[in-house]
Amino acid sequence: MCGIVGYCGVAPASKILLEGLKRLEYRGYDSAGICVEEKSDFKVIKRKGKIKDLKEIVPDGLPGSTGIGHTRWATHGEVNDRNAHPHMDDTGKVVLVHNGIIENYQGIKKRLLDEGHTFQSDTDSEIIAHLIASLYQGDLEEAVRQTAFLLKGTYGIAVMHKDEPGTIVGIRNGSPLVLGIGEHEMFLASDVTAILSHTKQVIYLEDKELVKVTADSYKTSDFNSNEIRKTIENIGWELEQIEKGGFESFMEKEIYEQPESILRAIQGRIDRDGATAHLGGLNMTPRQLLNIKRISIVAAGTSYYAGMVGAFLLESIARIPATTELASEVRYKNPVVEPDTLYFAVSQSGETADTLYAMRELQRKGARVLGICNVVGSTIARESDGGVYIHSGPEIAVASTKAFTSQISVFYLLTLLLARMRHLSFEEGLRIVDALEKVPEMIKTILASSKHIRELARKYSRYTNFLFLGRGLNYSVAMEGALKLKEISYIHAEGYSAAEIKHGPIALINEETPSLFLVPNDKLRDKVINNMKEVKARAGKVIAVAIEGDQEVEAIADDVIWIPSSNPVVYPYLMVIPLQLFAFYTALELDRNVDQPRNLAKSVTVE
Ligand code: G6P
Repeated sequence: MCGIVGYCGVAPASKILLEGLKRLEYRGYDSAGICVEEKSDFKVIKRKGKIKDLKEIVPDGLPGSTGIGHTRWATHGEVNDRNAHPHMDDTGKVVLVHNGIIENYQGIKKRLLDEGHTFQSDTDSEIIAHLIASLYQGDLEEAVRQTAFLLKGTYGIAVMHKDEPGTIVGIRNGSPLVLGIGEHEMFLASDVTAILSHTKQVIYLEDKELVKVTADSYKTSDFNSNEIRKTIENIGWELEQIEKGGFESFMEKEIYEQPESILRAIQGRIDRDGATAHLGGLNMTPRQLLNIKRISIVAAGTSYYAGMVGAFLLESIARIPATTELASEVRYKNPVVEPDTLYFAVSQSGETADTLYAMRELQRKGARVLGICNVVGSTIARESDGGVYIHSGPEIAVASTKAFTSQISVFYLLTLLLARMRHLSFEEGLRIVDALEKVPEMIKTILASSKHIRELARKYSRYTNFLFLGRGLNYSVAMEGALKLKEISYIHAEGYSAAEIKHGPIALINEETPSLFLVPNDKLRDKVINNMKEVKARAGKVIAVAIEGDQEVEAIADDVIWIPSSNPVVYPYLMVIPLQLFAFYTALELDRNVDQPRNLAKSVTVE
């Protein structure tokens, strides 16, 4: 979604802003712009379209070493040059970029119109510039603070005033903002990837905090003007991790990274001697862990499907009743919070508004909510009552791949830990540990067979409807596979329990609707095979992801993608990789932008 970058320093600001915006592209956007301060004047350049389109209209060698930039993902007002940020007030004194949504903007805009203000855009953001300009009495920081008291909603803002050259004020309430500290230069960004090539020293602003920056100084304060001393943190990511490293797309790179990213999620956390796991960040004593009676997981998108795998593992192996719910639904259902229930908020970005707000609502009701996040220092990571980082490294492609396998890795570890405290024997625990440790190598063999999956993608890319069918642990994997195909190829795909097709979706089956079946060699195999036969009997095409050597499946299916035989408990890992590759190659066949699919955003910071 929208991205912010700001720069105060000695270098040409336009170059740094454009580079930062380029790095924020992955979040999803539809227009972009910058404002550079040039001899006490503001030069605003903005445009609908991509950063490369913006670059075309930014003059080479544009002077000025202070500026702000933005990528906009439209919420209020259509996608056009006018609605792109930065926005100015009508005196031209104040210029700003804004992430988030101002809920009471209509009332404020009406009042400002009555007072004679004129507006250039249809956005909620522009009213903030007007308010700051009208409240300004020689101190931008104070005017921003006063404005904040009038705004309802979420915002991360970077703002400049003509009378305070070389200065940017940033403010955060619900939309992330981070300060980057360099030598004689300071950066502001909504996301560390925008500034990682310049500095690793950062300060994360909390909600209701402001920062005033110049090239050589920064001051953080709260809404009551109290100065706050904040800890400088070090970004743990390397620059190479946010670059394509020889791959054509981030998505391909991230799919292929999974043997290593899974290893990073599990290594150092498995305890072979105890056939269990260590998860330091839970902030809970063994006694507290033993007292958990129920587990409830909230998440959105791919993280939701990872949560579903987690709930299945926890219930079936650790014998703790566990459910996963869509965070967006939990927030508004007035959830019942029970004292012995442990809650998890799963979010790669740690910024998804639905998940964050559900977490806050649960916490308000007294719940202990642990976070399972990738982005260190993200809002969910910081506001949760403890948690586990998945350590996948930055995930740039909008469609999530490696985060999914790392999220489920954390659930495998959690299951081991909680199950070994309960019914799971040492021997059974060790069997899971063994299977888990072999996963990265097995994934390598599946990745090595990608040519075949590419051929299948070519063969099937002309179809416009797909069913993805699985059962048990692989039911949620089928849902995730369907989501991947939808997200990046724009082909309609439904994920279903294979058992459920007879209750409805079988009506869709004909020669134009292929079904992709996940067929493990566990107790559900025969039932899934029966479902495959039902589809074949109705002239439906069948692609199966099955265990090497399963001749019965081979005889029924039109096409088979083989995966190595393993302990069935880890099949979600092995089943999801072919589905990611299938979606990826299908999207390539159809010439889609795999990294930045239309209308989607990486981190959805609005409800
Ligand atoms: C967006 C992204 C998805 C992601 C979902 C949840 O919809 O496009 O890829 O799965 O948000 O994101 P989170 O960061 O909370 O895991």
